[in-house]
Amino acid sequence: MRILGVVGSNRKDGNSYLLLKEMLKDISYHETKIVQMAELNIKPCELCFEKCAPKPFECAQDDDFQKLLTEMKQADGIIFACPFYFYVPSKFQVFLERVSCLDYFTLERHGEDKNPLKGKPCLLVTVSASGSSFNAFQILHHLQEFALMMQMKTVTSRFWPFIGFSAKAGGIEKGSILNERKP
Ligand SMILES: Cc1cc2nc3c(=O)[nH]c(=O)nc-3n(C[C@H](O)[C@H](O)[C@H](O)COP(=O)(O)O)c2cc1C
Repeated sequence: MRILGVVGSNRKDGNSYLLLKEMLKDISYHETKIVQMAELNIKPCELCFEKCAPKPFECAQDDDFQKLLTEMKQADGIIFACPFYFYVPSKFQVFLERVSCLDYFTLERHGEDKNPLKGKPCLLVTVSASGSSFNAFQILHHLQEFALMMQMKTVTSRFWPFIGFSAKAGGIEKGSILNERKP
């Protein structure tokens, strides 16, 4: 299986990345890859409706968006790791907005069942300094709305907040999350 980790942080190699890297070590028998939003150039949706989705799920804008979407299409499962920046980090929100717009215009122009993310399993993870459940829920709920809209299959948990996992970084510095390991 091919598992893709998408790090929503604006900061390269930050706590969300470090957490995801640790998580993927546990499933190293699978093919794994991490893509960090911080390393990509993804512009906001420019509402170029006339040109949107000439082919299903193909964006007319020329930047790194399609690269990430291709990785997502090829993955058997996706883990989204997104920090709490009061809201969802802006670059990641831009990505969600672009995918959502493509979904809408793909349906308009090419009909149903063209969504390559449909049915794909995804796991939602959030990171904040405090690990507060309020912060976690806000981010996870937002990601869940996206996953539902894309008809992805969210992996849930038996523990609060159920729709995903919340991690405490213990501070704002890069690497602080590694000190939060349980012995
Ligand atoms: C704009 C902004 C707002 C933040 N607000 C909070 C907050 O209210 N509570 C909290 O626990 N952490 C907050 N944080 C801290 C981040 O969640 C924390 O540093 C996290 O480790 C960042 O993950 P990253 O290194 O993957 O970017 C905030 C960070 C930013 C940049």
